[in-house]
Amino acid sequence: MGDRVYFFDTTLRDGEQSPGFSMNAEEKLEMARQLARLRVDVIEAGFPISSPGDLEAVQLVAREVRGPVIAALARANQKDIEVAWEGVKYAERPRIHTFIATSPIHMEKKLRMRPDQVLEAAREAVRFARNLCDDVEFSAEDATRSEVDFLCRVFEAAIKAGATVINVPDTVGYATPEEFGELIRTLIERVPGMDRVIVSVHCHNDLGLATANTLSGLRAGARQVEGTINGIGERAGNVALEEVAMALYTRRDVYGLSINLDTTQIYRTSRLLCAITGIDVQPNKAVVGENAFAHEAGIHQHGVLQDRRTYEIMTPESIGLPTNKLVMGKHSGRHAFRKVLDDLGYSLSEEEINRTFARFKELADRKKRVEIEDIVTLVEEELHVAPRVYQLEYFHVTTETRGTPLATVVLTRGGQEFKETASGDGPVDALFAAMNKIAGEQPQLVDYTVRAVTGGSDALGEAVVKLRDGNELAIGRASSTDVLEASAKAYIHALNKLLERRKAWMVAASSWNKEG
Ligand code: KIV
Ligand code: ZN
Repeated sequence: MGDRVYFFDTTLRDGEQSPGFSMNAEEKLEMARQLARLRVDVIEAGFPISSPGDLEAVQLVAREVRGPVIAALARANQKDIEVAWEGVKYAERPRIHTFIATSPIHMEKKLRMRPDQVLEAAREAVRFARNLCDDVEFSAEDATRSEVDFLCRVFEAAIKAGATVINVPDTVGYATPEEFGELIRTLIERVPGMDRVIVSVHCHNDLGLATANTLSGLRAGARQVEGTINGIGERAGNVALEEVAMALYTRRDVYGLSINLDTTQIYRTSRLLCAITGIDVQPNKAVVGENAFAHEAGIHQHGVLQDRRTYEIMTPESIGLPTNKLVMGKHSGRHAFRKVLDDLGYSLSEEEINRTFARFKELADRKKRVEIEDIVTLVEEELHVAPRVYQLEYFHVTTETRGTPLATVVLTRGGQEFKETASGDGPVDALFAAMNKIAGEQPQLVDYTVRAVTGGSDALGEAVVKLRDGNELAIGRASSTDVLEASAKAYIHALNKLLERRKAWMVAASSWNKEG
């Protein structure tokens, strides 16, 4: 066993399948491209049998993203495995990841299978997958609540059938670090052939122990870590990859393990996921939370001013968060702006720089001091461009105590102007109602939030709007120093996505009809 740890990212599968985090194919592709920049070793792009949309997303990622292995999940049956293969077969380095549960409760209550049937299904699934693909990972779901003797037999069968990676999931986040490390040690000692495969750990965070369990598994000899960015995932989430990476990096004196991840891409990857899903991490989240490198208490500030190492065990730069104290304001030129983008690790085209710089100038006119977080917000919006079906031209809102708020909105579409007025329960409700009138749509407003990107009364406000139309969920985001403007733009962002997706469906349906 070498000292290299492989990072297997399942943000687009285990992360994406949890409530509120679903992504469409383009969003998955955008995220996968960033994961490749982060230099993860494996991207699990989805669970293709779960829906035609997920199959399409996995195919897109497999075709477009070079560098990491692209994996797809399949239950231990032929149909699932065939569809998973359809998803990844065009990848530069494809992997099929097949799994079956091995704990008594899962076998009896969920699968309604006897242990010998489960063992046979595991063996057959791996054999079948190996006929299609050279790289096959096998997972024993709920491994930590399985009987160890049985687990050893299942893993042995999977290895004999050709598995290249053996994954040990703590599916329900039940294990303690000591137990989990011991389990990995036992499996490595007892399962014949375990030294020829990569042993992987996959920890959920139900008891807040996912990072500790993962590190314990690595100390015991595992060499692949499965997890997600920001720790998103089922229930309390999966292990946060950025936490494992920074623990291995910061405490390499203890672990002595090497990683290929470019840790300076961590901050950007985390921000992109927030931008795509519309869900922020908690401020005190380890590594990527807003406060992770902030020092508020006087005594801490004093120490940090003398020497940052008094209260900082890792540098903000090591995760790609520049502490560049260049003051950015309305007199800052292109050169300084470009330097901030470079420091942040963005490589934008000339056209994207031009557009972002123009927005930066607009912002600097309204806000005295533009902070790094403001610039990140502008760039993420620029890179995450929405389809431009409708655009906001003008709005006017009137509101008073005990009066009914009224909003007049002008939107353009294809060069044509549309104007409507509507009332609402509040100014934002009136704005949204006027835009619905123009578009002739009534999407359900699932969520609406506004937050200040930085402090101060001239702070950039960022609005996030989630709209649902049937099964389609779209997230819109926009920022402005005027929260009503940010809200209107975020609403249009989401609405445009819904309209674009409907158009894409109609085009696909009409071509199926022609073919049929
Ligand atoms: O948590 C789990 O057991 C899983 C498997 C499918 C690997 O996500
Ligand atoms: Zn999982």
